[in-house]
Amino acid sequence: MASTISTTIALIVATLLVRARAQPVAPGPTPAPLNLTAVLEKGGQYTTLIRLLRTTQVEQQVNSQLNNSFNGLTVFAPTDNAFNSLKAGTLNGLSQQEQVALVLFHVLPRFYSLSSFETTSNPVQTQASSNNGVYTVNITSTTSQVNISTGVVSTPVTNTLRSDFPLAVYSIDKVLLPYDLFGAKPPATAPAPAPAKEKPGKSDKTPTAPKADGPSAESESSPSAAVGLKGRGVLVWSFVAGAGVMGIIGSLL
Ligand SMILES: *[C@@H]1O[C@H](CO)[C@@H](O)[C@H](O)[C@H]1NC(C)=O
Ligand SMILES: *[C@@H]1O[C@H](CO)[C@@H](O)[C@H](O)[C@H]1NC(C)=O
Ligand SMILES: *[C@@H]1O[C@H](CO)[C@@H](O)[C@H](O)[C@H]1NC(C)=O
Ligand SMILES: *[C@@H]1O[C@H](CO)[C@@H](O)[C@H](O)[C@H]1NC(C)=O
Repeated sequence: MASTISTTIALIVATLLVRARAQPVAPGPTPAPLNLTAVLEKGGQYTTLIRLLRTTQVEQQVNSQLNNSFNGLTVFAPTDNAFNSLKAGTLNGLSQQEQVALVLFHVLPRFYSLSSFETTSNPVQTQASSNNGVYTVNITSTTSQVNISTGVVSTPVTNTLRSDFPLAVYSIDKVLLPYDLFGAKPPATAPAPAPAKEKPGKSDKTPTAPKADGPSAESESSPSAAVGLKGRGVLVWSFVAGAGVMGIIGSLL
């Protein structure tokens, strides 16, 4: 009898001791598994990305990789504004498979701190890259800025949402459009004919107008310059060509 009571008391005391000791050691409830969506929700302006992560099922893939990967992951998170400023129909114009590729393109298969980008060599593999070198990005970095370039868009990292191994999440103000989805088509349709059209247009107009002004202006500024008529012509032409190139650059910008 006495022994059972003392055993019971001993058990209770032991339990209390264990609890008392366990409390300071365990920092809280069991730590929740790392969850990209939760990080993005906290950021407050990534609802489009969260929706895309869901519909493409990349969300599960990323979260299970976070749990298993030795290398960690880095996610570039375009804001809702970034998605809103895409041309209408950009996302809907992609097949389901291409949308998956677009989302995976924003995920790098290892953890990068911001400073580690300074020693990264280009091109950098993304989760959309296969081993034939497609869907890569170039990252250039100084101590104050990190730029990501896809060959179609170029954008700096604007904010760090999280940078603790194994997950880094960096905010960006543009959607990273992969060259492999958006780079090949536009040169064939829009931008290529544009400069070709502009060049003849400019050179057709310019010879008449600047030629009249050009020589007189030049003879005022350098009356004794040993530049023959032909030399002046070359100068005018290089001026015209320069203006044309600047015009083209201006129109590209
Ligand atoms: C991740 O977080 C989101 C939002 O907080 C939640 O809906 C989802 O169930 C979480 N997923 C896991 C695997 O915990
Ligand atoms: C994380 O990985 C462990 C073992 O690798 C597995 O038992 C566990 O279910 C995984 N948890 C999640 C949330 O995926
Ligand atoms: C990033 O890009 C901006 C303009 O787009 C440029 O001025 C800056 O030098 C670039 N920085 C790096 C580190 O490449
Ligand atoms: C990316 O970097 C590689 C290596 O420096 C270079 O060859 C390539 O042209 C770059 N691509 C873009 C889109 O900047």
